[in-house]
Order: sequence, then structure tokens, then C-alpha cells
Amino acid sequence: MDTAPTPPATARTFSSLLVTGGAGFIGSHVIRRLLRTQPEARVVNLDALTYAGNLANLKDVEGNERYTFAKGDIRDADLLQRLFSEHEFDAVIHLAAESHVDRSITNPLAFLETNILGTATLLNVAKHAWTERGCMDRVLFYHVSTDEVYGSLGDEGLFTETTPYDPRSPYSASKASSDHVVRAYHHTYGMPIVISNCSNNYGSHQFPEKLIPLMIRNIVDQRPLPIYGAGINVRDWLWVEDHAAAIDTVLQNGWVGDTYNIGGLNEWRNIDLVHKLIELVDAKLGRPEGHSKALITFVTDRAGHDLRYAIDATHLETRLGWKPSVTFEEGLANTVDWYLDNKAWMDEVTSGDYQQYYDQHYANRG
Ligand code: NAD
Ligand code: DAU
Repeated sequence: MDTAPTPPATARTFSSLLVTGGAGFIGSHVIRRLLRTQPEARVVNLDALTYAGNLANLKDVEGNERYTFAKGDIRDADLLQRLFSEHEFDAVIHLAAESHVDRSITNPLAFLETNILGTATLLNVAKHAWTERGCMDRVLFYHVSTDEVYGSLGDEGLFTETTPYDPRSPYSASKASSDHVVRAYHHTYGMPIVISNCSNNYGSHQFPEKLIPLMIRNIVDQRPLPIYGAGINVRDWLWVEDHAAAIDTVLQNGWVGDTYNIGGLNEWRNIDLVHKLIELVDAKLGRPEGHSKALITFVTDRAGHDLRYAIDATHLETRLGWKPSVTFEEGLANTVDWYLDNKAWMDEVTSGDYQQYYDQHYANRG
């Protein structure tokens, strides 16, 4: 069959959306946005509520009559079938995943199971349900993926949509595999799909195992700031609300079968970013300039640590007209304020098992 990307005739609207992983960091922002921008759509959030999922992330939409939460696992085909037949979804926005690279190094199988088998199970149930309903020409399967599938850059260059896949961690290998499986369902069965590959997100409600919220929390609490290796690895940071806006744009106008890189041309070496966070948090807390610099602690590097990620989002910008809405200064200031104002959220998500993970993970790094 001809699988060259094709544009939608007009912007898509939906009546019934399935969002997976909606209780996580990015998923919660996506749900909040879709409830605004798809005013006719009912939105079902399917989430297993792993350590990274938290219904407190969606407290403000709990009472919305178009929003439903379903607790469950994307590997559970029976549950998926029930949800598809009950809600007659016309699109799936698939974000559920194991998402933390460090955890993929210590427990790779969990990543292969959720990210590959989970995605395949979801695709398979969607294919059967949509085939049975005879609506394959009116639906969309959207896979939210990562720039890490492209591997690691040297000092120069940017990832484009044609950069060959070269995943190097169990996490990125599992996301690369799931991208391939999604494309296979398009080419083989004619399922309408889109994929986007985004750079590092930051913003509110991010689980504090990831660099920015972890550093903010530790600066506030005056605990060591663990920098892997020499701190020279580079990441390209995008505000999560701008990622959610990009996802919404692709959902409405993305060409079927197409791939979109999402990023903000905002590269930072880890060490420089941590200095920036120290400056911001110390200032907000009325501490003298440079007060928390002594907390910086260089620790054993991440195994196979990718040196640099950087995204060329020209395709998304020129084809669909998306652009980031804030500067990094604005986004980061907003983010720091949110964590300082939401200590109860931080205390809740870091209680229990997380503290044990944290102590073990960093104790082993010297
Ligand atoms: P997250 O870890 O904050 O959230 C993941 C969510 O998925 C959690 O709510 C968790 O409970 C749920 N989940 C995990 N396993 C599940 C399963 N088997 N069944 C159902 N639900 C399950 O992740 P995030 O940072 O919000 O990332 C969301 C998606 O975006 C992921 O697919 C990730 O690969 C991708 N992504 C993330 C970033 C980033 O910087 N965070 C960048 C690009 C792409
Ligand atoms: O690029 C997109 C990816 O960004 C997403 O697909 C992943 O889901 C997301 O977790 C993120 O992956 P990273 O590994 O880049 O993010 P993390 O926040 O874990 O680390 C960012 C950088 O900071 C990385 O170079 C490792 C470093 N780091 C991280 C932690 C947690 C440290 O130096 N110290 C730390 O304690």
C-alpha cells in the first residue's frame, strides 16, 4: 500500500480519546490541554499508577464530566478490549512508558515489557476494535516518543526526522522498538499513525528522579547535587506545556504516517544548568548568591551516558506551524516557582519507596 504521509483534509476533532500514561508528568499536561482544545471529546486516562503516576497531578480536572480515569496496565489486552468497546475511541495518544534511563540500566526487562510489549498490545487491540467497527479511515494512533532513539551527537549537528536510529540505553532501545512497531502497523495494516520524538521536558509535576526537579529539591533541602561524570553532557530542554501544545498540534493536523521532531533549540551542559538552578533557587529563598554551589558533587557517570541531544524541529514548525511559546528563562522561573509553591506535592511523591531508590542509587555512585 502507499504509505507516504498524507495531510488531513481539515483539523481533526474527536469525540472519544484514550490517553495512556495520563497520570505521569507529560500525560497530565496533555490531558489538561485536550480537555480545553477538544471541547466535544470525552477523555479516558488509562494509567497503571506506577511510582511515576500520581492522580494528584490531575486534581484540577477530576470533577470534569468529560474526564474518566481507568486504572490498568497497557499490557492487559482484556482490559483494553473492554475500554475500546465501552468508549469507542477515535484516537489513542500513547504516552504510558517506563521513562527513566537510570532505572532502565538497573531493570531493563521492565522497560522492554512495558514499552515494547505494552505498545504492541495496545496497537493490536486498537487494530481489532477499529477493524471491527469499520472506522480505520477516521481514527488515529499517536505514539509519543523520544529523541533518544537517534543515539548520541558529538559537538556538532542536530537530530532530524531522517537521522538513523541508534538507541544506546535499554530505555531508548525500547522506545525505538516501539516506534518501529507503530510504523509496522501503519505499513502492514493501514492503521493511521503519527509519531513525535521530543527532547528533554521540564516543568511542573515532573517526578524528582529527573535532573531539574531533583536538583531543585536538593538545593531547597541543602543536600548534595549529584552530577554524573564531568557534567559536560548536553541536553536540549523544552517546557512541558510547549510539548503538550506540539502534541495537540500534531493530533489535529499531523500528516498520517508522518514523524515530527519536537524541541526548543535550547541546549545546556548539565553543569551549567545546575549552576543556573542554584542561582534561581537561592535567590528565591533569599540566600546569598552562590550559597548552594558547595553542594555540587561529581559522582560516577551513568553507564553508556549519551553525550549530547539536540533537535531540529524545522519540519514541525514549517509543516504544522508550531513554535515554543516561552523562553527558557520564563519556563525555568515558572518551574522553580511551582516546586517551591508545591512542597506538599514533592513530599507526597518522595515518600515511601522513592527514598529507598534514591539512597541506593546515589550511594552506589561514590
Ligand atoms: P512519566 O514516567 O512521568 O509517566 C509515565 C506514566 O506511565 C506514569 O503515570 C505511569 O504510571 C504510567 N505507566 C507506566 N507503565 C505503565 C503501564 N504498563 N500501563 C499503564 N501505565 C503505565 O513519563 P513522562 O516523562 O511523562 O513521559 C511520558 C512519555 O513521553 C513517555 O512515553 C516518554 O518516553 C515520552 N517522552 C518523555 C520525555 C521527557 O523528557 N520526560 C521526552 C520525550 C518523550
Ligand atoms: O531526551 C528525552 C529524554 O529525556 C526522555 O525520553 C526521558 O524519558 C527523560 O527521562 C530524559 O532523559 P535523560 O536521561 O536525558 O534525563 P535525566 O533527567 O535523567 O538526565 C538529564 C541529564 O542529567 C543526563 O545527562 C544525566 C544527568 N544527570 C541526571 C541525574 C538524575 C545527572 O548528572 N545527575 C542526576 O542525578
